[in-house]
Amino acid sequence: MSAAENSEQHDIDVSLVKKDFPILSTQMNGKRLVYLDSAATSQKPVQVIDAISNYYRTFNANIHRGIYKISEQATEEYTKSKDKLAEFIGAKSYQEIVYVRNTTEAINLAALSWGEANVNKGDHILITQMEHHSNIVPWQMLAQRKGAVLDYVALNGDRSALDQESLEKQLEKNPKILAVTHASNVLGTINDVKAITRKAHDRGAVVLIDGAQSCPHMPVDVRDIGCDFFALSGHKMLGPTGIGALYGKRDLLAAMEPIFGGGDMIRSVGFQTHTWNDLPWKFEAGTSNIEGGIGLSAAIDYLNGIGMKNIRRHEVEVTRYAMEKLGGIRGLKMYGPDIDHMESRGGVISFSMEGAHPHDVAQIFDDRGIAIRAGHHCAMPLVEDVLGVGAVSRISFYIYNDKNDADAAVDAVGEVKRVFKLQ
Ligand SMILES: Cc1ncc(COP(=O)(O)O)c(C=O)c1O
Repeated sequence: MSAAENSEQHDIDVSLVKKDFPILSTQMNGKRLVYLDSAATSQKPVQVIDAISNYYRTFNANIHRGIYKISEQATEEYTKSKDKLAEFIGAKSYQEIVYVRNTTEAINLAALSWGEANVNKGDHILITQMEHHSNIVPWQMLAQRKGAVLDYVALNGDRSALDQESLEKQLEKNPKILAVTHASNVLGTINDVKAITRKAHDRGAVVLIDGAQSCPHMPVDVRDIGCDFFALSGHKMLGPTGIGALYGKRDLLAAMEPIFGGGDMIRSVGFQTHTWNDLPWKFEAGTSNIEGGIGLSAAIDYLNGIGMKNIRRHEVEVTRYAMEKLGGIRGLKMYGPDIDHMESRGGVISFSMEGAHPHDVAQIFDDRGIAIRAGHHCAMPLVEDVLGVGAVSRISFYIYNDKNDADAAVDAVGEVKRVFKLQ
């Protein structure tokens, strides 16, 4: 039985999971690969790799246009993947799922289409100080185009969560839109997006949630959250690169204009005019990322097979274990919610070490076959201006990581201390 065939509440058998991920039995720098960079991109199970390979080997054809068997099969599998994703995040139907390349493109689509039509000179756009560049730059660009004002919800005193007073204060400006991350890729903080959405709706704002770091790691229900838009990336949730989605409430998407024109997004075209296709196809001009949809479909099957609650519980356990160990190391500072607040923390641990640059730390990890990331993590305003450091090192866990992997990271920190002769 593969690791993904038992979704009942259970502990994840990581040794079984690891077997599904071919790359995890390879080596890096002559050492067993310990992959601790899933916040950047996840590894792919053989089920996803095989689904993509099977598509190319047995029914590769363009979708929507062919009146022959394999084109119909490709169309069916591609559409089925949208049904699956809709169910996975609690959307009403595939019509609310627009496929894009990634979270970045999803947010840009919302800013370019909904934003262009609804944000005007002097309007306020609200984001937060813990956003990834993907959820900053599109809104800066919109604000610049429109002469709108971009405001930020500040972080609290210990810089681990959003400051509720700041949120309330910024909402008093009646922003047109609030765009906020569900889970921070630097702090690990999980925001209470349901409560935030309710507050923003009370002030008449439309709400977009950046789900890049939540959707792969915990159950997500967009209808329960109540958000208007939700953005996600397939490559962070065991799927291939180049496929992501913008969820939008049907009425909102129906009222929005496409940003690209071309084949597939039209119902009819004349010499001077055209009419648009139905949702969600009117936003998907040109040949789609068919293999991406099929791979994402297999990824969702895999995640469902293990169960999102089990995944969340497992990551909390491994993260807590790692934090306990790292917490005992002199000169090591971790960011984000502390160990007593695991309910509002994901499997991301960013840290600094006194006397060692984060890039040197990552290099020493690399020498030991351990993949971590160091830098500003595409969150320069947060890392540089709010945390006041140029860079941090970041460990991030997923379903294929266990306490042994956490121990490997802790040992590597010991090596950093030896190399730099730190106390
Ligand atoms: C919180 C957050 N938002 C957005 C993104 C952008 O994702 P992508 O590069 O897949 O568009 C990332 C990627 O790391 C992220 O962590």
